[in-house]
Amino acid sequence: MDMISDYENTMTLAIAAVGIFLWMLFIRSLKKRVSSKYPTPPVVPGLPVIGNLLQLKEKKPYKTFTKWAEIYGPIYSIKTGANTVVVLNNSQLAKEAMVTKYSSMSSRKLSKALKMITHDKTVVVVSNYDDFYRTVKRFIINGLLGANALKRLRHIRETMFKNCTNHFHAHVKNHPAGLMNFREIFRSQLFGLAMKQAVGRDPEKLDVPELGGMVTKEELLEILVLAPMTGLIEVDWRDFFPYLRWIPNQKFEEKIKRMTFRRAAVMKALINEHTNHMKLEEEEECFLDYLLEEGKWLTEEQLQVLLWEPIFESSDTTFVTTEWAMYEIAKDPIRQEILYKEITKVCGSNTFSEDMLSQIPYLTAIFHETLRKHNPVPVVPPRYVDEDTQLGGYHISAGTEVAVNLYGCNMDKKEWERPEEWLPERFLNDKYDPVDLFKTMAFGGGKRICAGALQAITIACTSIGRFVQEFEWKLEDGDDENVGTLGLTCLKLHPLHVLIKPRK
Ligand code: HEM
Repeated sequence: MDMISDYENTMTLAIAAVGIFLWMLFIRSLKKRVSSKYPTPPVVPGLPVIGNLLQLKEKKPYKTFTKWAEIYGPIYSIKTGANTVVVLNNSQLAKEAMVTKYSSMSSRKLSKALKMITHDKTVVVVSNYDDFYRTVKRFIINGLLGANALKRLRHIRETMFKNCTNHFHAHVKNHPAGLMNFREIFRSQLFGLAMKQAVGRDPEKLDVPELGGMVTKEELLEILVLAPMTGLIEVDWRDFFPYLRWIPNQKFEEKIKRMTFRRAAVMKALINEHTNHMKLEEEEECFLDYLLEEGKWLTEEQLQVLLWEPIFESSDTTFVTTEWAMYEIAKDPIRQEILYKEITKVCGSNTFSEDMLSQIPYLTAIFHETLRKHNPVPVVPPRYVDEDTQLGGYHISAGTEVAVNLYGCNMDKKEWERPEEWLPERFLNDKYDPVDLFKTMAFGGGKRICAGALQAITIACTSIGRFVQEFEWKLEDGDDENVGTLGLTCLKLHPLHVLIKPRK
């Protein structure tokens, strides 16, 4: 009898405790709703349960976001399944989110694919703002991307510029009137540069025991850059419905697991080759040496992923931007001539080099105008709101994600005249000062501004300058509307094919 009444008492207490807890939660949420004097952002209507997912299915969300901004204004909220995302479409709101309100939205909620690919936030770009982040950010700046590292690595970039123009000359020699596939040459050279900076050499092939033997350079590019690029936009429907996470999605997981396994196998082989053998003759001092020295405490997986990050980042966004710039230049003989004359005025008969960048504002303007019109990262990876905050006078609750639609900001007619046109001189107009070059926010902003901006600007601008100094660029007739885009970064849909003619 006693045992039964003890049991009854315990149950009654437990039920009462749960009741009180739920009541407190209810009161808290009520207080929150009542206490916020700010309205919530306009809502884009969607369907029950799935929200706006169907409206976003064509994989170019930045364009849909921009259309919605015309109807609902520069800030609005959407639903992707169970998640609420607030989308920002003008530069004031973007700056408020990235700079002023950073402390209340400094982390990121990752999709399942991103979590697996980044080894649960081990890379700098998606890690939370904590001690690990601060340490690995220092590593990447000191070892690779900061001004001093950039000076140290200059000879590697010089070799890359020279290799590119040698390939272009070889193309002209072998196919004088034929179209040149710019992408094939430039991407491979940029990948080579990324490998040299990271592991000290640009292997033509690599022995990867876990993949059954020799892997070619093309396969390395596929495994380290192209496959992860596709993997990052792989959608697992469970990301939108976290309460259904328990349902297996084997096909998706196997695909990402295979991708990360192949990447890990290659990174392991590269690291082993570097540490087990005597330094190969052609090998340079590299980021891996820095990580092995400074990051002795890193686990094997952390080392692999941190070394992979700059290979991935160096090989893509800079390439995407340079390809678009060369497309616009080839399409526009008048502006190409202006640039050529500016280069000749500064260089005379010398080869154009990195030191001359600051003397040719028109070249920098071309680069930034290309970023504005063809931003390789059209939507800044969403930030997670850790505590209630306000944006643009609206209440934003904790648990919301905030996405900055840079494409929308840079197509905003209130801020940019004729935004759909490629007009580099808009950055040279009296109205603008050099700070305006970063008005496009292409590199993000605030504490998490792109760590590779200096490298990207140096490589892209010097490449463009060198290419225009040595060759005349022309599109094939009818190719000037070939502007579709593809993928995570806004890659040109079709590789750039151009006619080139040496100037001397
Ligand atoms: C045109 C070329 C590039 C563009 C447009 C670009 C754009 C961006 C953007 C939008 C962000 C996010 C900023 C934010 O969350 O607010 C970012 C972050 C980052 N980027 Fe880039 N990027 C470029 C090139 C590079 C290169 C070449 C590297 C390195 C090799 C690089 C390394 C990074 C890193 C490490 C971060 C994370 C910084 C942090 O969280 O502290 N980027 N980039």
